[in-house]
Amino acid sequence: MRIYDIILKKRNGLENTRSEIEELVMGYVKGAVPDYQMTAWLMAVYFNHLSPGERSYLTHIMLNSGERIDLSSIEGIKVDKHSTGGVGDKVTLVVGPVVASCGLVFAKLSGRGLGHTGGTIDKLESIPGFTTSLDADRFKRQASRIGIAIAGQTAEVAPADKKIYALRDVTATVEEISLIASSIMSKKLAIDSDGILLDVKTGRGAFMKNFEDARELALAMIDIGERGGKKVGAVISDMDQPLGRMVGNSLEVIEAIETLKGNGPADFELLCQVISERMLIIGGRADEQSAPGIVKDAIDSGKALAKFDGFVAAQGGPTDFSTNYRKYLSPAGIIEEVKAECDGFVSGIDAEGVGLVCMRLGAGRKTKEDVIDPVVGVELVKKIGDRVARGETLAIIHGNSRELVELEKKALTETFSFSSGEVVPPPTVHEVL
Ligand code: URA
Repeated sequence: MRIYDIILKKRNGLENTRSEIEELVMGYVKGAVPDYQMTAWLMAVYFNHLSPGERSYLTHIMLNSGERIDLSSIEGIKVDKHSTGGVGDKVTLVVGPVVASCGLVFAKLSGRGLGHTGGTIDKLESIPGFTTSLDADRFKRQASRIGIAIAGQTAEVAPADKKIYALRDVTATVEEISLIASSIMSKKLAIDSDGILLDVKTGRGAFMKNFEDARELALAMIDIGERGGKKVGAVISDMDQPLGRMVGNSLEVIEAIETLKGNGPADFELLCQVISERMLIIGGRADEQSAPGIVKDAIDSGKALAKFDGFVAAQGGPTDFSTNYRKYLSPAGIIEEVKAECDGFVSGIDAEGVGLVCMRLGAGRKTKEDVIDPVVGVELVKKIGDRVARGETLAIIHGNSRELVELEKKALTETFSFSSGEVVPPPTVHEVL
């Protein structure tokens, strides 16, 4: 079919067939279809959307445009997780060891942070000696041997998505749920795990600002994954305020370790508990009744922490890291408190604003080329719902430049909002699907 007719069908609200989508997408990847035709189709999708079938075709066509990671040589049930991105999101560092200590194989490729959200790879690389550059053989051997391996993405995964995303980004066609779902799942399905748990964030610091959109995205991704033969679950979790208390690479690693020791902040502990439970259920290691107890036992018994230690050592980090992390992680040069300027209750902490403060301090990247400073970041002493008195500490800023710390103290104060009356904190988990 002519590309013109493929676009016309979509513009008129009709469904494209698999071969039509393939002709368009692969033609675009090879340079035979120009930007203006791809853009016209994307804009037609923006207004007319994709059916579940079209969404699944698009995902698989983009997935098949690149390399896939074959885990079939690894025995056991392989589970993966994906977060749509948030501030203070160090969930992988806790749930990976938890589920691996309960007998699942957690083999995951992770990304680096860009903009206001951090990446798991940057967090792990704040551990001295830790390497995330594992070749496929080492990655699989480690996952087989200890049940957990996390590596940076090196394979050329879903290049069609990369090219189309770059076009969407400059043609106002990013914010369409079937395109977002296909884009995320084309990369997620490249690693052939048996089950996937999706942590879809909602709130001011999230890609999906409102709950209904987050839910629709989660359902679309579940549908794509299930059509691809995977067991898929989703948790819709809050990102109206940062998750936990620490934001910044080594600070988040410390918070993850403390959570594995049973000393984590309540919201972060709860989310890790729920995500671990769902992963165990998806992986057939627990049911609704037994999952909470199994996860709790993994933490209380120290099994999950021991798995974390084995994981860090296997990837080149210190063998005593969780016990002696203070010896290995030097603090930032400047650590200063940010004080409340009024009495009241914290009614909001703009997660995106906190993420941007951390990024400007050096914890994240404005562009892919930026080098990050692993020790800088923010510690939130108060969270939504807490009472504060004027002069009390709201947050602690960790920086390495006097000038930046002075600037960002003001910006950090402005991320907080206050109310004179009591405030109910938002739920950490909005829904489990
Ligand atoms: N993240 C992705 O990977 N793709 C999108 O389309 C949006 C967010």
